[in-house]
Amino acid sequence: MKKISLLGTGLIGAFYTMSLTGHRRQDKIVHVCSAHEDTARNFALKWNIPKYSTNMKEAIEDPECEVVVIGLPNYLHKEAILMACRAGKGVLCTKPLGMNGKDAKEILDAVEEAGIFHGYLEDLVYTPKTLKAIGLIKNGSCGRILWTKSREAHSGPHSAWFWDKTKSGGGALVDLGCHCIEIGRNYIGKNVRPLEVICWAETQVKPIDAEDHAIALIKYESGAISQIEVSWNFRGGMDLRDEVSGTEGTIRLDHWLRTGIEVFTTGSTGNYVSEKTESDAGWLFPVGDEVNSLGYNDMFTDMLDSLEKNENPKESFYDGYIVNAIMDACYLSAKTKRWEPVELRVWRGSQKVNSNSDLIEYDDLHYLIKEEKMPDGTKKIMLKEKNSGTIIQQVIPA
Ligand SMILES: NC(=O)c1ccc[n+]([C@@H]2O[C@H](COP(=O)([O-])OP(=O)(O)OC[C@H]3O[C@@H](n4cnc5c(N)ncnc54)[C@H](O)[C@@H]3O)[C@@H](O)[C@H]2O)c1
Repeated sequence: MKKISLLGTGLIGAFYTMSLTGHRRQDKIVHVCSAHEDTARNFALKWNIPKYSTNMKEAIEDPECEVVVIGLPNYLHKEAILMACRAGKGVLCTKPLGMNGKDAKEILDAVEEAGIFHGYLEDLVYTPKTLKAIGLIKNGSCGRILWTKSREAHSGPHSAWFWDKTKSGGGALVDLGCHCIEIGRNYIGKNVRPLEVICWAETQVKPIDAEDHAIALIKYESGAISQIEVSWNFRGGMDLRDEVSGTEGTIRLDHWLRTGIEVFTTGSTGNYVSEKTESDAGWLFPVGDEVNSLGYNDMFTDMLDSLEKNENPKESFYDGYIVNAIMDACYLSAKTKRWEPVELRVWRGSQKVNSNSDLIEYDDLHYLIKEEKMPDGTKKIMLKEKNSGTIIQQVIPA
């Protein structure tokens, strides 16, 4: 059982509270902090939280608080984490960790110097589907991972600060790309070093300085490529999809728009359907148990179990730093229009990963490229001659 001070009562504060109080049921939010007194009071009343305030320091230093959960706008993450360091409290922070790589590195150094427990709240690597996919990849079902794609697109965020890059650190890339990057790392292997990126990022629609769309390719030392796509102007709900392609298998995941429940209604009830759904009539795609589908339950279980066992959680501030550093490289590449290196001031993964050779011996003289059963019942076999390099085909009759 852990006693928590929660900072922020917005969208993520509410999701975190539903998960913290609804799943493990043993943890308790003892103090909640919000920018405005009435919101803090109403939130405390709704969720039966004994103390509320508008002062982060007060919430963090509350003697009852054992761990601080941060659900504040991006520009406040560092300030709140440094306060937790000074107070010697464990700290869990939502994404992105910092406004940029420099910010995130300062945060990482501070928690490590203070010796406090830290967890990076990247819920989308804990969704039940993602955990299953990661398990399949780890047991070899997909072979060597070649390519991953992660897409997060919706109609744009719900609070003004997100749209102001002095407060958010950037646009759709920072807000949504951070999820996609960490999803790709989890599929490719978090010990595999990201080497370089190429990125397109533009403001296609909104009257803002930050980008509202971006696409990036991140090249990893194993030879794998991670593709990420983000939009703040996607119409029709929230498109959250991942794909993984390996030498031996393929995985496709759809987390939000087609989860298995499809509802048609002629009437507009005005009711909430699911996060970022734009319509409440016509064909609707509700999500059963949003909190669980978004990974919050398994995420907090990992975080708080790890804290109790004095172990590292699966996602730490180190991971948050790597994600921020990759996003920095994306912004540079979007400007220079070239591949740019991912500058990592700290790297704790493998020093060298061999990109495995996938050559398949067909016989002493040939490597196998591919076999295919044809519509006429014959089988075609494509081979490469080892000595000459010539590519040939054999046709095996039906
Ligand atoms: N899936 C996810 O992991 C996910 C989803 C949404 C948001 N987030 C992240 O969560 C953070 C908050 O996003 P949100 O959507 O909840 O934003 P929001 O605008 O809905 O809520 C922000 C909250 O912070 C509070 N706040 C602002 N300034 C404060 C201050 N000085 N002191 C105390 N409280 C203050 C506000 O009162 C509000 O309760 C962001 O970092 C965002 O990137 C993560």
